[in-house]
Amino acid sequence: MTHRSRKPYIAGNWKMNLDRSRSLDLIKTVKGRLGDGGDREVAFFVPAIYLADVTAVAQGSPLGVGGQNLWYEANGAFTGELAPRMLREVGADRVLIGHSERRHVFHEPDEWMGRKVRAALDADLLPIYCIGETLDERKAGKTERVCKRQLESGCEKIRTEDAHRLTIAYEPVWAIGTGETATIDQVGQVHRTIRKWLVQRLGEDAANLVRILYGGSVKPDNAKDLMAVDNVDGLLVGGASLQAETFLPIIEFDR
Ligand code: 13P
Repeated sequence: MTHRSRKPYIAGNWKMNLDRSRSLDLIKTVKGRLGDGGDREVAFFVPAIYLADVTAVAQGSPLGVGGQNLWYEANGAFTGELAPRMLREVGADRVLIGHSERRHVFHEPDEWMGRKVRAALDADLLPIYCIGETLDERKAGKTERVCKRQLESGCEKIRTEDAHRLTIAYEPVWAIGTGETATIDQVGQVHRTIRKWLVQRLGEDAANLVRILYGGSVKPDNAKDLMAVDNVDGLLVGGASLQAETFLPIIEFDR
């Protein structure tokens, strides 16, 4: 199976940026440029407080809209957290899990990841499970070990039949927001490792359904080269997803 047999998936992660009116403007602009969604999947991961408004504007288009995090319980005494069903209720159809900033700024441990991914799937949210090594880990030659450990935890409750709904994002921590993109070789190597791990875990057929995105300083001028790498099925874009002028050329990387 060649990597282009999987539908390209271009996702924007707004993080804690934009405001309500700029968010809605951006959604309107991107919606207007999207076709029927047949040849690529495009989604934004937006601050939860804007989800209801953003999904209302995105309605009638193939644009996906997701939350940036969740907690795995359905309800309870978890001040400040959001249950999967709450994201669904305000229109989200997907969610990021284990983003680098959740792990490194807010110290979310590996042990939570399997339950978060499972809770997303059980609530009918499409998870993008994020993994990636720090600069120190890369320098110490631990990239593969770290990524595999993160895959083990996040995929601990994954079953073969979940594969088509699962996406993995490889985001080397040192490439996020730094302007320093991983080289084509580095990306190719880690994505190959991830695919092999998935094959061992889920079997070849199911593993080939999982899309693997690259994230970390993706810009209009490197999107095409990154998308040409084997096993790169899409891009998870931070800074360049905040403006139509930079995000549209990334969505249209092959035009
Ligand atoms: P940047 O594209 O700003 O480097 O952010 C990447 C990212 O963290 C997307 O989730």
